Amino acid sequence: MEPLVVAGATTVVIGREVLEAPSLLGTANPPLVAVIASPAVAAIADRVVQGLGERPVGRIAVPDGEAAKTLETVDATVRALNALAMTRDGLIIAVGGGSTTDLAGFVAATYLRGVQVHYVVTTLVGAVDAAIGGKTGVNVGAKNLVGAFRHPARVVIDLGVLEGLPPALLRDGAAEALKAGFVGDPELVALYERDGLAADLGTVVRRALTVKADVVGRDFTETGERAILNYGHTVGHAVEIVAGISHGEAVAVGMVAAAEASRLVTGFSDRRRHDAVIARLGLEVSAPPVDAARVESMMSLDKKRDRSGLRMVLLEAIGRPRVTGVDAATVRSALAAVGIRRQQ
Ligand code: GLY
Repeated sequence: MEPLVVAGATTVVIGREVLEAPSLLGTANPPLVAVIASPAVAAIADRVVQGLGERPVGRIAVPDGEAAKTLETVDATVRALNALAMTRDGLIIAVGGGSTTDLAGFVAATYLRGVQVHYVVTTLVGAVDAAIGGKTGVNVGAKNLVGAFRHPARVVIDLGVLEGLPPALLRDGAAEALKAGFVGDPELVALYERDGLAADLGTVVRRALTVKADVVGRDFTETGERAILNYGHTVGHAVEIVAGISHGEAVAVGMVAAAEASRLVTGFSDRRRHDAVIARLGLEVSAPPVDAARVESMMSLDKKRDRSGLRMVLLEAIGRPRVTGVDAATVRSALAAVGIRRQQ
């Protein structure tokens, strides 16, 4: 497959057997590579280190998943880079899913005021969304509140690695890919309706990334249009934190809530289709039991809010999103649609 280029800044290599030097490095020729990975993907990090051949490599272990996204882990990672004597002409390669790439990308954006970073993506969420587009950051009080916009120079997606993922991780990524379909690619929605989780991963990744690359190319720092990529995330992020479910599970629930808000605000009534395709992917369309007040309070920290209040991404049609202010009654109805109700 031809590499995809995002915003003129990131070369995305999608293929098989791509964990070796030419694919990993592109034109980079760093004197030192720091490979950042959690123990959960140690075997893939081993392949990456092997693929780098004789080049000097240091390894830095970080916690798995969301636990990596803390200022404490940033501190530990920076100290580990110091210990390796990383210099500005060095390269960081982050191996992992969105949490690892968010953390490593933030470290790379700030260490020595910026060191080049490449990502080797090991989850479908990372491949179709999190690792692409240069959003980096950690959680401080709420999700991703501290971060920086900085593109990785290269993203390597090995389809063989993705095909080996357990169904739970494939479902998680499918929620983000479906989101890309809802906001920008009706054929991707149709593909999931037809094939469910068996949909060809190369096609899913390329289609979802094409939606994302187009949007990020026009609005890198989210001054406007890029917010559409947060479809399902206003409710989703809050439910993810309060209920402790995975990002994809939460985004699936959030998209159902957004479909209900869309019905009320834009008149586009697509709830049944949302429910059906989300269920086809083996994802839930309702939240687990949660404290509604906590979800609402977490939603009030959403980054799309402005002085006039909460804003949500809604649909006027599949592929026609709009970011708009929503009133308290709409938020309550959207939450009720996914089973989140305040006690009377
Ligand atoms: N995940 C949404 C974005 O990258 O803008």
